[in-house]
Amino acid sequence: MTDLDTTDLGRADLDWHQARAALEWQWDIGVRDVILDAPINRYDLPDKLPKPASPATPVQGGAKSPLPLAAPPAELDVVGIAAQAAAAAQDLAQLQAALAAFPHCELQRGAKSVVFSDGVPGARVMIVGEAPGRDEDIQGKPFVGRAGQLLDKMLAAIGLDRARDVYITNILPYRPPQNRDPKPEEVAMMMPFVRRHIALAAPDVLICMGNHSCQAILGKRGITKLRGQWDQALDKPVLPMLHPAYLLRQPQAKRSAWADLLELKAWLESPLPTT
Ligand code: URA
Repeated sequence: MTDLDTTDLGRADLDWHQARAALEWQWDIGVRDVILDAPINRYDLPDKLPKPASPATPVQGGAKSPLPLAAPPAELDVVGIAAQAAAAAQDLAQLQAALAAFPHCELQRGAKSVVFSDGVPGARVMIVGEAPGRDEDIQGKPFVGRAGQLLDKMLAAIGLDRARDVYITNILPYRPPQNRDPKPEEVAMMMPFVRRHIALAAPDVLICMGNHSCQAILGKRGITKLRGQWDQALDKPVLPMLHPAYLLRQPQAKRSAWADLLELKAWLESPLPTT
């Protein structure tokens, strides 16, 4: 059960997902009429009573019935549309504009920002995370919350600085509601933008931060096995690493993260890539 009540629906600060959750909850418990502040004596208003729903416009009912919200036509090839939009972008600014103009990701309705990137375009190291959280959504930049602060410390430990040495993005540019996991269809429609992003940023090496990034870029899951093992994708060497948010929850895993950072440092300093 939600902790929102009916009065919440009128609140101006309610975000889209909360408003939808409150509305769905009311629909599920059978609310079909808007109740006014003062009672209506319907015997006095026989001509103004709403007509019963005709068979042509059936009232939807039942616990599972969906709200009559507009859904995109099932046949729309959103991944193809994304691929065309991304391919047309000739530089990062055009790609950012194309992403912001892409209307088919429902996550954007609940997000404040299109979180595109941070750091230095053209840096040798490109980090690809999962999706913005609350802080990233507010600031419009990836990895600026607690996990981002830990990431900055990790980079500093091997002499890298986000403002000088790395370029950072995420698989999803919009914060999922309540930081839930990205859905496969959301990842699929964003991947053409991610691939183009990587091509235009042209890093020497990709760091896949966490499971969702590995799944999207390498098509593999199981970060505790994948981490620290060089792989290859999109014509780049790829080093999967433990996500800093995971390290905040599992500090004992920092030892492995340190080993992977040293691996990255050695790769950057070596004249021959170890792929
Ligand atoms: N986690 C991510 O994967 N990306 C961010 O930008 C923030 C947290």
